[in-house]
Amino acid sequence: MKQIYKDVLIVGAGVAGLHTALSLDDDIDVLVLAKDYAWECNTFYAQGGIAVAVDEEDIPYHIKDTLSAGAGLCDEGAVDILCHEGPVVIKEFIKKGFEFDKDRYGNLLYTKEAAHSRSRILHAGGDATGRYVHQFLMDMLKFPILYNTQVTDLLIHNGVCYGVRVFHNNEIFNIYSKKIVIASGGVGSVYEYHTNARTISSDMQGICVMHGISLRDMEMMQFHPTVFVESGAVRKQLLSESLRGEGAKVVDDEGRRFLFDYDDRGELSPRNIVSQAIFDYRLRTKKRVFLDLSNFEEGFFMKRFPSIYFNMGNIGYNLPIDLVPISPAFHYAMGGIKSDLFGRVESVDSLYVVGEAANTRVHGANRLASNSLLEGLVFSKRVALDIKLTLKNKKDIVLFDEVEPSLIKQVDKELKNELRNLMWNYAGIKRDEKNLQKALNRVEEMLKLPIGKLLRLRLLSSREIIKSALKRKVSLGAHYIVKGDGV
Ligand code: SIN
Repeated sequence: MKQIYKDVLIVGAGVAGLHTALSLDDDIDVLVLAKDYAWECNTFYAQGGIAVAVDEEDIPYHIKDTLSAGAGLCDEGAVDILCHEGPVVIKEFIKKGFEFDKDRYGNLLYTKEAAHSRSRILHAGGDATGRYVHQFLMDMLKFPILYNTQVTDLLIHNGVCYGVRVFHNNEIFNIYSKKIVIASGGVGSVYEYHTNARTISSDMQGICVMHGISLRDMEMMQFHPTVFVESGAVRKQLLSESLRGEGAKVVDDEGRRFLFDYDDRGELSPRNIVSQAIFDYRLRTKKRVFLDLSNFEEGFFMKRFPSIYFNMGNIGYNLPIDLVPISPAFHYAMGGIKSDLFGRVESVDSLYVVGEAANTRVHGANRLASNSLLEGLVFSKRVALDIKLTLKNKKDIVLFDEVEPSLIKQVDKELKNELRNLMWNYAGIKRDEKNLQKALNRVEEMLKLPIGKLLRLRLLSSREIIKSALKRKVSLGAHYIVKGDGV
């Protein structure tokens, strides 16, 4: 079996992975693994922006808003780090040459999104913040990327991680490394409707389950309220929260702004409340729900939201004039691989996790809008710091030579689609015990079938979501559980 040796191996080429690499010294031998093209990651598709305290006085308010959206499940230490270290990282980012959108006098433009008590979202390229951040990080990267590389296992022995096994170019081989960083994102593909890149399919979470590594808060799955799902694309078109932040309205087919029936903050309620309200209203009234953009002047809209304008234009919508039918769709996993505040994975030495794959409880039960790119930037720096401090520690070499089971089998495709449907209907936005139990039983059955390993990993992650949802008996944040038969 071919073998490669590295100092640091980073699984994932989104903001968390690339910024970890960028924060390491040039003389460290680093390899980044990308499952597909590097841009096929959630960072690339992020629209809204990066939330950051506008000045010193705003830091306590950013903390307060984050904690309040998190519904009591946040780790206050993690939130404190995010909101205090955020402005420092953003200043460094700007100093390195990143350009956020500015007004004609050169002042940074901040927008507002739901549940923020003030405008504090920086953006770039209008609604293309993620794409700009990703391109910038790629331009700055000093280390190689191995593309089209599927990680199939973590090489763990006696509580120490020695590297990963990969499938690349029709070959399975091991890459050994002193430090291994999981920055592979969340779980999007286990749901039928989602906004995620096609690479985001919970493989690393599933591998962790296989090795007995704890996932935490897996019931906390965030559904974005305003997504255009009526297209055949796997990744559904997100309609950024900043549209509502800047005045877009959610209406039914008679033009009624029904969100105020659910929360006084209407369109600016936290994401979980808006999603749950839309879901509930559609179910009760059988009406369709739309995003009304008529507050925007056309020229301004094209400039401020060029990607949404272009993408929706391509499928026949004339924005901001046309009403856009919307639905909530899976967007972001707050739950993930449990780690401390330097990204260290509990119980496995040399293994780190950062970004959406990680669970530091910085987002609690519901992530505040635009806090995720900031999380990727802030916590990756902390991961890199810990790596630099410990890279020289002695580590034995252990070689692994087990045979990898088949990754894909013919039955997988149909079962994968069944899983997506099951997760959307029974473990999605609105849950109840009976349907969760049904989903669990079916997932357990599927796990007993002769399936490929990659599907097995998805099933293991899905099982964690369902089991956590069954354990939490009362609604909290994004976890919305009702008594009775549910949907
Ligand atoms: C959005 O633009 O609405 C997404 C921002 C986020 O997920 O934080």
